Amino acid sequence: MTAVSCARLRGKVAVVTGGSRGIGAAVASRLAAEGAAVVIGYRGNEQAAHDLAATLNADGTRALALRADVADPDQTEALFEQAMARFGRIDVLASCAGVEHFGALENITPADFDHVFAVNTRGQLFAAQRAAARMSAGGKIVLTSSISATRAVFEHTLYAASKAAVEAMVLNLSAELGRRGITINAVAPGGTATDMAAEHGAGYQHPQLRGTLPLPQWLEVHGALGRLAQPQEIAAGYAFLASGDAAYLTGRTLPLDGGYF
Ligand SMILES: NC(=O)c1ccc[n+]([C@@H]2O[C@H](COP(=O)([O-])OP(=O)(O)OC[C@H]3O[C@@H](n4cnc5c(N)ncnc54)[C@H](OP(=O)(O)O)[C@@H]3O)[C@@H](O)[C@H]2O)c1
Repeated sequence: MTAVSCARLRGKVAVVTGGSRGIGAAVASRLAAEGAAVVIGYRGNEQAAHDLAATLNADGTRALALRADVADPDQTEALFEQAMARFGRIDVLASCAGVEHFGALENITPADFDHVFAVNTRGQLFAAQRAAARMSAGGKIVLTSSISATRAVFEHTLYAASKAAVEAMVLNLSAELGRRGITINAVAPGGTATDMAAEHGAGYQHPQLRGTLPLPQWLEVHGALGRLAQPQEIAAGYAFLASGDAAYLTGRTLPLDGGYF
């Protein structure tokens, strides 16, 4: 389990979508390390999600792995229903499920658009809706954007747009949810060492250069810190936004990009 200096989430219940791998798995571990019971949402990697739940339970956390495709709002609703049935309350949503996409304008299909937006945008909106419906004052919703929402990258339009919409969503939903004492923010990670970065990282280069410089070396040039983030470093941002330390912070997107330029 991640070593942390305080238990800001003791007694809280957190739902983490995309918890089977990468950033979401690190977020689930971090929130558990801070004292929360966690629901680990997954889509395809059942074994990894159940293994993580078993590891967290061995450390004394109350953890549960549940399958839900966030592209389907009915499955999202079922995820929250099962979480409520098991733990009786929901205090935190960390919405980490997401999919990458690279494609030139002439190659983008309506099916590509629908899939990317169904997961990255619609999926996060309905996760926030289903979580907020069950939260009391003090509830914390943390969605996932990307540094890509505010940076131009060749052939990255669909993904970037799907994440820019998330930043607009948290800004506007903060007004609705604030009167109920619920905050909603987003984390915008930069390049982070996960399966997604390994599979798609080369896309961040200009098409003529793709394949010439792996993402870690590319970030040595373009990042102030000169390296990829580790998922645990990104998870620390979610834990902050999920905690009382961020009580007066809402509607914002926290960039965790290592000083990308
Ligand atoms: N890695 C980066 O450099 C980076 C940078 C900026 C933003 N982000 C964002 O950070 C988040 C996590 O990225 P990552 O790098 O950890 O990705 P990853 O390694 O590819 O893992 C993706 C996670 O999302 C889940 N997922 C995908 N589609 C889903 C669906 N339809 N329903 C439910 N779960 C689904 C996967 O579940 P299964 O494995 O169970 O299928 C997996 O847990 C994403 O929103 C991504 O856009 C990542």
